[in-house]
Amino acid sequence: MNDFIAGLPKCELHLHIEGTLEPELKFDLARRNGIALPHATVEEARAAFTFDSLSTFLVGYYGSMDVLRTEPDFYDLASAYLTKAAAQNVRYAEIFFDPQAHTSRGVPFDVVIRGLRRAILDAERLNGIRAQLIMCFLRDFSAEYAMATLLESLPYREWIVGVGLDSDERGNPPVKFAKVFARARQEGYLLTMHCDVDQENSTEHIRQCLEVIGVDRIDHGVNALDDPALVEEIKRRGLGLTVCPVSNGFVTDGSKAEAIRRMLDLDLRVTINSDDPAYFRAYVAENLELVHRELDLPQDDLVRLERNAFEIAWLPRSVKHTYFAELDAYARER
Ligand code: HPA
Ligand code: ZN
Repeated sequence: MNDFIAGLPKCELHLHIEGTLEPELKFDLARRNGIALPHATVEEARAAFTFDSLSTFLVGYYGSMDVLRTEPDFYDLASAYLTKAAAQNVRYAEIFFDPQAHTSRGVPFDVVIRGLRRAILDAERLNGIRAQLIMCFLRDFSAEYAMATLLESLPYREWIVGVGLDSDERGNPPVKFAKVFARARQEGYLLTMHCDVDQENSTEHIRQCLEVIGVDRIDHGVNALDDPALVEEIKRRGLGLTVCPVSNGFVTDGSKAEAIRRMLDLDLRVTINSDDPAYFRAYVAENLELVHRELDLPQDDLVRLERNAFEIAWLPRSVKHTYFAELDAYARER
């Protein structure tokens, strides 16, 4: 079955580009930029970074980003991810980036986005993988800073398909960003937000995403299952959920594979994603393998998970159809 997963045409919709910073690249960039790192080797660096919750994870995640300084750094980061993803037959990716994690330490917005954009264009040309950017606001910063970032993004509007919300959810509900997301909608961005798993007020935050923000998608969102009214509304609107099983295993009490099974049975548009693969040591294929192992998922359901992802992707219908055709051909041949 792992061969089947390897060849399956894939669509990744929940992937933080900063979460793809492998320690090897981190060391290379530190050398290039003349930055001293606290650990002598990649192995030491990996061993020193332990976490068991979203907040403890985020400390090391932001700390590592200090090596990302120049446009070529962001280019190399995204190129490395896109090369790996293409090797796993990811055909299309929607990539989150966190501009405030960089502007807050003096790296200009345009340095970040130009590097990422150039990597996406080159990867499509060289590897045939397509990708689009989703700009995330950091929810533990102020709504004013998010609004300023939104305005700063407008000259690059054509390079960004939508906006999201990530970082520490505790005490930072969706409504805090209602004005920012309303303005983003006016500017033509599509909208998503993280509803991380097993947070304080998880179901209330999902309700706000639906009723106040009017999101086009929900990132994670596993706790929707705790409230039948939320399930009903998500189904009625045809919204997708970007679930990240290996990530869940690190920052909650488990992968939530059973919840994924329930979502499939409820006909929710659930998808499988990697979140921060360099930290969780699992790209999208390994996430599919985990779900397959834990649920004994048949091939049909694996195909269905990828069909869901292409279905909810922020792509024109005509483009989606080419991916559906690839998926159908693959399923038929097997
Ligand atoms: N949740 C919140 N913030 C994040 C995540 C996540 O899954 N990954 C990177 N930043
Ligand atoms: Zn995430």
